[in-house]
Amino acid sequence: MTRFKLLTALAAAALAPIWASAQTAALAGDPQKGSQKVQMCQGCHGILGWRTAYPEVYHVPKIAGQHPAYIVAALKEYRAGQRKHPSMDAITASLSDQDMADLAAYYSQAPLQTAVK
Ligand code: HEC
Repeated sequence: MTRFKLLTALAAAALAPIWASAQTAALAGDPQKGSQKVQMCQGCHGILGWRTAYPEVYHVPKIAGQHPAYIVAALKEYRAGQRKHPSMDAITASLSDQDMADLAAYYSQAPLQTAVK
């Protein structure tokens, strides 16, 4: 293999995952299916005031009305370990790309709620 061919092959190998993730990002989400998968999210992301009481009190980001591509990107980053949070790491470990697309479709269309004190 010439040096040039080797470099081309290396570049292709390095770009392949980026291409693959761009492909999966285009997965169509189904909000109907997403609505059946939110049970595991609602305990934290669905409560008024957006706080959890256990194991510690922390604010939970509001994701209803968020752009679906942002939601999918965030979920993938937790699953890949590029973004870290104990709850979200554990949750996303069990989600497929299709689950993430469906959840994102659901949450992006969910009505915005105002936090109540
Ligand atoms: C145990 C509580 C809990 C559960 C259950 C949970 N989340 Fe989260 N989620 C959090 C917290 C806390 C954060 C903020 C973490 C951080 O600071 O990175 C977060 C962050 C996120 C973010 C990034 C928001 C942003 O603005 O960047 C998304 C998207 C998200 N969660 C979606 C989900 C989905 C979808 C589910 C269900 C499959 C889910 N979460 C289940 C607590 C939870």
